[in-house]
Amino acid sequence: MPGPGMDMIGEEEIKEVMEVLKTGYLFRYGISLGKDVDPRFLGKVFQCEKEVAEYVGVRYGVAVNSGTSALLTALCGLEVGPGDEVIVPGFTFIASISSIVYAKGIPVLAEVDRTLNLDPKDVEAKITPHTKAIMAVHMMGNPARLDELRAVADKQGIALLEDCAQAFGASYKGRSVGSIGKAGACSFNVYKTITSGDGGMVLTNDEQVYQRSFAFHDQGHSPLRSGVEIGKRPFFGLDFRFTEVQAAILLAQLRKLPTLLQRLRTNKARYKKLISDLPGLEFREITDPAGECATMLTVFLPTAEIAQRLAKDLKTKVAAEAGWHVYNNMEQLMELRTNSSVRCPFDCFQYYGEKGKEIRYWRGMLPQTDALLGRALNIAIGVRDPGLSSGFGLTIMDDLNAVEQHAAQFRQAAEKYLK
Ligand SMILES: Cc1ncc(COP(=O)(O)O)c(C=O)c1O
Repeated sequence: MPGPGMDMIGEEEIKEVMEVLKTGYLFRYGISLGKDVDPRFLGKVFQCEKEVAEYVGVRYGVAVNSGTSALLTALCGLEVGPGDEVIVPGFTFIASISSIVYAKGIPVLAEVDRTLNLDPKDVEAKITPHTKAIMAVHMMGNPARLDELRAVADKQGIALLEDCAQAFGASYKGRSVGSIGKAGACSFNVYKTITSGDGGMVLTNDEQVYQRSFAFHDQGHSPLRSGVEIGKRPFFGLDFRFTEVQAAILLAQLRKLPTLLQRLRTNKARYKKLISDLPGLEFREITDPAGECATMLTVFLPTAEIAQRLAKDLKTKVAAEAGWHVYNNMEQLMELRTNSSVRCPFDCFQYYGEKGKEIRYWRGMLPQTDALLGRALNIAIGVRDPGLSSGFGLTIMDDLNAVEQHAAQFRQAAEKYLK
């Protein structure tokens, strides 16, 4: 079961979708016939971009068809291209890395710290004259150390891009994630806080990044066009457009976000309290406890061996093995598997020529990340993603009784090892 947004689909989403179907029009634009613009132009997609941007507190939103598209669009909006390095954590979903590769940039892996997000010290150590951006991924609902990362980016004069896919709705020191970096990218797939089945959005306050991102997602066109702008398109774009039906669902979901976050936070706080006195058990560091999404509770066991044994007893896996969010499990990256026999961008002369050596990735290259994930267990509070917690935990539909029962089960199993 994914969730949490998907678990809350109901009459509100049906009503919004029916409104779209009754118009019989599914495209974000009105087709202009001669001088007349179709009156259905500026429908749900535009409304959705406006409401999400307002919620997050930025000037612009560009709705796209997935979180992966949002990342690629944002990177192209930020002018990442051949020869540019982008620093990204070794604990993230593959799309954070593949979007850099398809923007023709070079992913540079950095360590995570006890937040399980980018370690600012390692980021600073990995800056080179080629670094164009830092991609801060807010994993499992918890904002990265944005003050420190922003300070590194500002000092270097490079962009901070927030991958908010797993943390839409979270805030950091009073500001929504996605509004702190130069751009943010969200996902609305079925494992996300709110969902439209698939979908995503680029968020920014920067006029130029907005114009470029819009162009990239729509064949080079400028925002709010009413026709085909021959002669005015700044560069090649693609088609990553969102549809009216997806936008209708997302609008209904957005209105449920406050309730949804409150429920997750209450359940997580109770669970945490019920196990916090277990000797030797530590919790993942949360940068802003009042602002995180609380979709997951991550605990650190004293050793990797204890974590392995407990995970086995609970029929789950330690975070290092839970799935495909760990760089060690990304064979495409380890073996530089691009879509052709030419391994651009990895062997691109813009990069390779200047640096004199090709970049390499290998299992075990991030020892701090490996050590932390090796003794971490993820307990789902609202997102049952088999790639993160092997499905171990709760859903958003569970009440406090269910939380208490689950915590008691965890406690009983953990007490065997923690004395
Ligand atoms: C951290 C992160 N970034 C990017 C994505 C990509 O989003 P999508 O699946 O909508 O393409 C995901 C999706 O799981 C994610 O978890």
